[in-house]
Amino acid sequence: MTAMPLIIWTETMSVGVESIDTDHKFMVSLINRLKDAVDADEDRAAVGSVLNALLDYTVYHFGREEALMAAVEYPELDTHRRLHAELADRVKAIRADYTERQDAEIGVEVLAFLKSWLVRHILGDDMDLRPYLVGRPDAVAEADRAYAEQAPLDMAAAGDPEESSGASS
Ligand SMILES: [Fe+2]
Ligand SMILES: [Fe+2]
Repeated sequence: MTAMPLIIWTETMSVGVESIDTDHKFMVSLINRLKDAVDADEDRAAVGSVLNALLDYTVYHFGREEALMAAVEYPELDTHRRLHAELADRVKAIRADYTERQDAEIGVEVLAFLKSWLVRHILGDDMDLRPYLVGRPDAVAEADRAYAEQAPLDMAAAGDPEESSGASS
């Protein structure tokens, strides 16, 4: 039986920069993996570790996006950065909640929230970046390279994005 992915990434979600699209696809795949874990009634430690991977990757991705926004002098950088901080706090709170609460509904609530914030943020706030990023390919490439160089995250812990469903391009 193949599980239905919660979110399917489509071209309409593309912000026109490969590194950002790749991050978004990976976050989609982590949320889909979380759904699989919840559906399969995997133990709390397994679900918790996917939540941890999602939180770590989200923070890492926000850093990249903010570096790119700075490189193209995006006028709404401060507002967007504030949105990221709020979202990261929400995901942190969800993870803490998940550790504390023992009821079965929490998995479903968490998934509903994650799906709506990710899709809304990509299609709304991130899409506003598109013209700025697409218009300055050299600045974007340079900032991308610099961020990749400092890449602090060990993605081995988060697994292979291609393994999960819903991350097709
Ligand atoms: Fe963003
Ligand atoms: Fe983003």
